Amino acid sequence: MTIRVGIAGVGHRGIQLARAAAALDDVAVTALADLDESRLAVAAREFGVDAAFPLLSQMLDSVELDAVLVLTPDLAHKDQAITALEAGRHVLVEKPPAYTVADTQAMADAADRAGKHMMVAWNRTFGLLRAKEIFGETGPDVVMADYARPNPAYLSLVRIHVVNPLHFMCGRAAEIRAHGEMSDETQEGNVVASIRFESGALGQMTASHGSGGRSERFTAYGGGYSVFIDNTSSGAGRVLRGGKVVEELEPVDTVAAQMRHFMDCVRNDTPPLNSGRDAVEIMKMTHAIMDAAGFVVPDMPEGRRGWLLWCGGCGAKVIADAASCPECGADWGGWSMSRQKIMQV
Ligand SMILES: NC(=O)c1ccc[n+]([C@@H]2O[C@H](COP(=O)([O-])OP(=O)(O)OC[C@H]3O[C@@H](n4cnc5c(N)ncnc54)[C@H](O)[C@@H]3O)[C@@H](O)[C@H]2O)c1
Repeated sequence: MTIRVGIAGVGHRGIQLARAAAALDDVAVTALADLDESRLAVAAREFGVDAAFPLLSQMLDSVELDAVLVLTPDLAHKDQAITALEAGRHVLVEKPPAYTVADTQAMADAADRAGKHMMVAWNRTFGLLRAKEIFGETGPDVVMADYARPNPAYLSLVRIHVVNPLHFMCGRAAEIRAHGEMSDETQEGNVVASIRFESGALGQMTASHGSGGRSERFTAYGGGYSVFIDNTSSGAGRVLRGGKVVEELEPVDTVAAQMRHFMDCVRNDTPPLNSGRDAVEIMKMTHAIMDAAGFVVPDMPEGRRGWLLWCGGCGAKVIADAASCPECGADWGGWSMSRQKIMQV
């Protein structure tokens, strides 16, 4: 059986994931939806697809599909995922599933009601599969996850990449303490959290937005093993036992591995990693860390996508609602749609 896939959102990330889906022998990219006509036309040509629509709802009404990939901006995820699930399709949705626990819960509930799978595209998980195997059912005793970037980011968009590995390795948190500071009234700054998991494991999370470059590190100890993973390069690392390196971990194409996993779950009707239920737990942990650090989550700026950017061209701090920087005119490649448009399903 060929799995027929419809894709909503063929922007930067959408094209990457569409290519990962199209590369699989048993998957046919069958339909596309994007509000941006020119992007839609370019993607339709690349994937040889005639069924191309502005809206996801039109795509669902017009084409038989087994699964939908929701790769639109964050604010559209909840409504689009629920619409696709209610139309009887399995859903892979980009991270974050939503900004709040309640919205994420609504998505997980919709998947349960529909009897369909929903998976969140936290691709870092696929660089940690070997580590998970090494520590087995009991998990590690101690985990540390670190995520550093040179710029702050709005809400938990970035931080979420560092909470997901902790949840994947150790499960639910029993107790969280954290220190942190907002970098200004709307942006997360630096955060350090210590976590006691229900499993008994202890964890530490560090996220910094004033670093000299992007880095993501994951370390775990337990059962006589040490695992060091550089998630900046997708899961490359090493395993030590008895003071010696016993295994070198090769980098993983996490986007390809994630797509294969999702399609296998669709084919075999098996629950995916990073399911709707997992997503609820990850969002709870994310918000608990922010609460413990004393962050006040700001309201979304009305009528805006609510995504603050540092322009790569001139460094100006602007709310993205245009295709280019209003200060210097640098092309942002479309990190930008008005909220009204994004909220269309
Ligand atoms: N996992 C990762 O590491 C990773 C990396 C980058 C982006 N992302 C996530 O991927 C998502 C998309 O980000 P991006 O960088 O591709 O953004 P983007 O702005 O480049 O692309 C989004 C696309 O969606 C389209 N769109 C917007 N609203 C729509 C709607 N209602 N219906 C149909 N199409 C709509 C836009 O026209 C655009 O082509 C975001 O949620 C982002 O957080 C994840």
